[in-house]
Amino acid sequence: MNEENYDYIMKLILLGDSSVGKTNILTKYLKNFFDPDSKATVGVEFGTKSVEIEGKKIKVQIWDTAGEERYKSITSTYYKGAKGAFIVYDITRKITFESIDKWIGDLKNNGDENIIIYLVGNKNDLNDKREVDKNEAMNKAEKYNIAFMETSALSGDNIQKIFQDLIEKVYVNFFRNSKANKEKEVNKGIELNKNNKENDNKTTDNNERKQKTERKCC
Ligand code: GTP
Ligand code: MG
Repeated sequence: MNEENYDYIMKLILLGDSSVGKTNILTKYLKNFFDPDSKATVGVEFGTKSVEIEGKKIKVQIWDTAGEERYKSITSTYYKGAKGAFIVYDITRKITFESIDKWIGDLKNNGDENIIIYLVGNKNDLNDKREVDKNEAMNKAEKYNIAFMETSALSGDNIQKIFQDLIEKVYVNFFRNSKANKEKEVNKGIELNKNNKENDNKTTDNNERKQKTERKCC
């Protein structure tokens, strides 16, 4: 797909405690790359991928946020405009699973109403170190009425699947058959102007503080 030629732009975000594997999930999806020594994300980064659903070309912009608490006030300002969110925990660290309620609360406070949430239990290649029972996670997802999947950014298990699932859900809920939605996106400046050769690493928000903490990921 020509990078400048698309019908919709879709914003997704990755949230969750530090070191659960958000950045590696994204690089695995975009570049089939896993980094065993990846550094903690500073602020936010993002990557894009072009996908096609029902003949519609969609530019998916995926924002990878820092899980460290000290970046919280900055990262939460990036929730706006996102139509889908992955909340990631590490199946080998129960404490990261216990943070899920907090992340969901954060999204409700700072994100768009009706944002579609997807719970992801990462590092399922480390089954021998498992601290979070799969059934417990399924119950949590049921409680919030959200999708759930275990993944491994290392092996690639379910990585393509979770993105496909979420992109389709967002498409069906927000874009399919809805000219109005598309116009709304344009009005909000979320859909990029097709005549504008905007770099992928620019946001529609020029807030200086944000720009200092964001960079293109992949
Ligand atoms: P912050 O940027 O600080 O929020 O962390 P993050 O959630 O982006 O974590 P990151 O992707 O940087 O991964 C943290 C560590 O976990 C790194 O050492 C990764 O190599 C490792 N890791 C990530 N995903 C997996 C996985 O699926 N399996 C295993 N075994 N290790 C993983
Ligand atoms: Mg990261």
